[in-house]
Amino acid sequence: MTSRNLFLLPGDGIGSEAMAEVRKIIDYMNAEMAAGFTTDEGLVGGSAYDAHGQAISDADMEKAMAADAVLFGAVGGPKWDAVPYEVRPEAGLLRLRKDLELFANLRPAICYPALSDASSLKRELVEGLDILIVRELTGGVYFGSPKEIIDLGNGQKRGIDTQVYDTYEIERIAGVAFELARTRNNRVCSMEKRNVMKSGVLWNQVVTATHKEKYSDVALDHMLADAGGMQLVRAPKQFDVIVTDNLFGDMLSDVAAMLTGSLGMLPSASLGAPDPKTGRRKAMYEPVHGSAPDIAGKGIANPIAMIASFAMCLRYSFNMVKEADTLEKAIANVLDQGIRTGDIMAEGARQVGTVEMGDAILAEFKALSA
Ligand code: IPM
Ligand code: MG
Repeated sequence: MTSRNLFLLPGDGIGSEAMAEVRKIIDYMNAEMAAGFTTDEGLVGGSAYDAHGQAISDADMEKAMAADAVLFGAVGGPKWDAVPYEVRPEAGLLRLRKDLELFANLRPAICYPALSDASSLKRELVEGLDILIVRELTGGVYFGSPKEIIDLGNGQKRGIDTQVYDTYEIERIAGVAFELARTRNNRVCSMEKRNVMKSGVLWNQVVTATHKEKYSDVALDHMLADAGGMQLVRAPKQFDVIVTDNLFGDMLSDVAAMLTGSLGMLPSASLGAPDPKTGRRKAMYEPVHGSAPDIAGKGIANPIAMIASFAMCLRYSFNMVKEADTLEKAIANVLDQGIRTGDIMAEGARQVGTVEMGDAILAEFKALSA
């Protein structure tokens, strides 16, 4: 039996409640499908800080490095608002991304038919929406140096972040976007601010050159990132794959997420480069929503984004395409049955908690797999 080694990092807030629902699916797949998942669990974010004074311990980093895939919940909460910047909860997430070299962040925004009315946009604008944001995740202003606050000595301070991209970083993220577009509707829109930023000028040149060289069968457009944000809320269905940098990707993916009705619905995958020898790539899967401290521990969080992140894990880390399709279908069917957590509640639907939602998806997954 193949061994498939998962490292679970539930993190803070609703992370552990959501992760518990994924565990049920893992257990079922092991028992009934001989999936061969082994799991280990670690601490990240505020919970790691409480235990070790670090946002993630070196021991857990090693486990993350060794795993076939990492499943990540969420980090942060008011409890850790005052901890030093270097060990704030988010530092754990950023270290995982950087040290595992997870440069490609895939953030699909899919509007489930049953939720077309949950969007703040009109139904016809979002019905059938299926876009994929490919966000560069290990470069740009998130990691560029200098990154500091300096004292100017005249009663003034200066805060500095550095937006920086090298050719290879743009080439590889563009490559991921073009490859994925080929499996979808074959269109890529690249977003930057070449009208203001030198890094945007280079981004635009490198994406254009990469396209010309290797991917001219894919339709390529360019948009300024601000106009792109506007188009995302004006006519989101015009997009197929959007490729953009770390910071614009952070913002645009939140915008895209909300088009679908709830942040609680959206998964993501963060992938590294394939190993030249084994073809395997390091990977981490996480819901786009945060730790939602206001509802943590109440059993009402929506576990769908976490479960859908596991579906992406099946697809991208283990090539279990059929199982991934089935799990995604199970989510859609449960929504069609009118079962809803509070964040996506609609008139006439049945409101359930985290566990019940997880149970309903598992039951549907079993039925569809039978
Ligand atoms: C995200 C989050 C993170 C980011 C935070 C938690 C550091 O907003 O994954 O989109 O800014 O990348
Ligand atoms: Mg974000």
